[in-house]
Amino acid sequence: MIQDAEEKMIWSSLPIPGVIVDPGDKITEINSAAEGFLNASSKTIIGEPVWDRIMIDAPLEEAFERARSSNSPLFVNDVDVGTGSRAPLHCNLQIAPLQGRPGYMIFLISPRELAGRMTQSHSVKSAAKSAIGMAEMLAHEIKNPLAGITGAAQLLSMNLSAEDMELTDLIVAESRRIVKLLEQVEQFGNLSEPHRVPVNVHDVLDRARRSALLGFGAHMKIVEDYDPSLPLAMGDPDQLLQVVLNLIKNASEAADKKGGNIRLHTFYEHSFRLRRADGTGQSLPLQIEIIDDGPGLPEDIKGDIFDPFVSGRENGTGLGLALVSKIISDHDGWISVESVPGRTVFKISLPMAPDPTRRNKKESS
Ligand SMILES: Nc1ncnc2c1ncn2[C@@H]1O[C@H](COP(=O)(O)OP(=O)(O)O)[C@@H](O)[C@H]1O
Ligand SMILES: [Mg+2]
Repeated sequence: MIQDAEEKMIWSSLPIPGVIVDPGDKITEINSAAEGFLNASSKTIIGEPVWDRIMIDAPLEEAFERARSSNSPLFVNDVDVGTGSRAPLHCNLQIAPLQGRPGYMIFLISPRELAGRMTQSHSVKSAAKSAIGMAEMLAHEIKNPLAGITGAAQLLSMNLSAEDMELTDLIVAESRRIVKLLEQVEQFGNLSEPHRVPVNVHDVLDRARRSALLGFGAHMKIVEDYDPSLPLAMGDPDQLLQVVLNLIKNASEAADKKGGNIRLHTFYEHSFRLRRADGTGQSLPLQIEIIDDGPGLPEDIKGDIFDPFVSGRENGTGLGLALVSKIISDHDGWISVESVPGRTVFKISLPMAPDPTRRNKKESS
């Protein structure tokens, strides 16, 4: 449809996914960025109904028709755009009537920064892995001499005045802090492959909730908002508990000391699929959201919070979310975050346990 060579060049160089539809809402043209975004070639996709390929979680059709009939543009921010082949991405949409072609509309789909980062974070995982490997080695090497230093300080302190003892106490306290950090680093190394079994995520959430309320989350109100018909997930209950505890802990630490609210929300999302770089797909219909009403992610680290050693807290190690992200990816799951002051949502998507009837058959044979 685009015939002019120059126009063609501009269209295919556009770094933003662009799609043109005809008056019957069939796709007539997509640019290369859109081929990547939709994970399809223009050959296979031209002629398809646009709403079959671009799934938007907002009721858009009326506004879209209005834009078409009044020949005016339509901007839609902050919608989840799915393509049927991978997890939906958070996007802004710009839609405009194509000048000189009545009824034709052009879509520009801009994935938002954070959503874009999330896809990247899977590919930089190996970099994070080697950073952690290095840290693990160091952790191991530092622990022994550190134990020596702590022991020596404790011996010294036996004959000291109260004033000098403050100093040895400082050595001991700071050494403990380092040991704690090192232990967290080592946790990565010790993290075995998940032992995956059918698991009720509500049991995991309950355990996490109860243990949080007894400790670090005592000042929080934690409410359950469960879909009671949620099927079993396929996962390692202990590792998933670690994930949820870490997320509740972060929310509790970010909240005001006087308290805050956390909502544990579960629901089923049939169409949630993840398409990996290697071409394999995975259905991740079980959704767990941990939602808090605290201050939100610090702006300066927002895009990097899943990387190791990125922390917005004075005494933070930055390892909590790195561990969370590792566990979820070992589960072939997906984690994403959306945060504004007053509302932070960590969303975990997990695969379902295989059909129990089939499983029983296998066990009995
Ligand atoms: N629910 C949340 N609300 C606000 N900030 C958060 C939340 N969860 C995580 N963060 C930010 O992300 C950072 C990284 O978290 P994490 O990896 O667990 O490391 P740590 O807790 O040791 O700092 C935190 O320091 C905090 O700044
Ligand atoms: Mg943490």
